[in-house]
Amino acid sequence: MKNFTSVHDIKNIKGILSKALAIKQDPFSNKSLGQNKTLGLVFLNPSLRTRLSSQQAGWNLGMHVQVLNAGQDAWTWEFSEGTVMDGSTTEHVKEAARVLSRYCDVIGIRAFPLLQDREEDYSEPVLSAFLKYATVPVVSLESATRHPLQSFADLITIEQTWKEARPPKVVLTWAPHTKALPHCVANSFSEWMIKADVDFSIANPIGYDLSPEFVQDTPVYHDQMEALKDADYVYVKNWSSFEQYGTMPPVEKDWMLGEDFLLKNPSARIMHCLPVRRNLELGDALLDSNNQLVYEQAANRTLAMQTVLSELLSPTL
Ligand code: CP
Repeated sequence: MKNFTSVHDIKNIKGILSKALAIKQDPFSNKSLGQNKTLGLVFLNPSLRTRLSSQQAGWNLGMHVQVLNAGQDAWTWEFSEGTVMDGSTTEHVKEAARVLSRYCDVIGIRAFPLLQDREEDYSEPVLSAFLKYATVPVVSLESATRHPLQSFADLITIEQTWKEARPPKVVLTWAPHTKALPHCVANSFSEWMIKADVDFSIANPIGYDLSPEFVQDTPVYHDQMEALKDADYVYVKNWSSFEQYGTMPPVEKDWMLGEDFLLKNPSARIMHCLPVRRNLELGDALLDSNNQLVYEQAANRTLAMQTVLSELLSPTL
């Protein structure tokens, strides 16, 4: 694995899951792997989990960790090629990525989409520039279209909690929100579930179908309760429209899952990547129940990053 930007960088899903579960047994067993190596974490957008879990993962491997809040603290970056930089941008990403590569052995980068131009966002301008100009491995800390570390942590969470022989029924369901949100978590979760040994489907209102590239042959339901029938894992997430890009078409029914759902589906496990808007995306009754896995998912973010860093520093798969 040269970089980690999507599930497609993983050749052996079962192998990387086993590696993660072995690291979980003894997270400090490899403190010399990252000795004298530096992990650089570059954030163009806010974060709680990704920032702290990535730092923790680096420290668990003995790495030095540097964090650059590029959205606030760095020079404003130019991404277009051959441009006359006589506007508001101060430094070209060519220099930024190459200089960061002199300080760091691995670079993590977070850059959300702007949700204004679909083609532009789906071309991954920031991540692509780092992949092009950095001279060290690049890890996506969430890009315009994907959140692979979150999805890896989600898969670990399902693997750890599923004890039956049959594949679990996993449903990704849209939930309400006040703002237009990116597709990254949903796209990425779909992509990982398609590769995993699960029975996967998606529920979303009309107007909110995800990109066909990420859905592939996955069954998509526009009736939430039909989709959620007998679900073992319910992954709750909001996203804006892909078709009417970045907008929020009106939704007729109430898609927020509350106590009623839990009463009718007492064994369903509830997942969300966090941050979550309580009683808008998901009811208190679910988030405060024993059915929720959200804290385990958050804990597994460290494990996902530690596994990815281990594989980048010393490949075994
Ligand atoms: N789930 C997730 O990526 O959380 P943060 O945005 O806080 O990093």
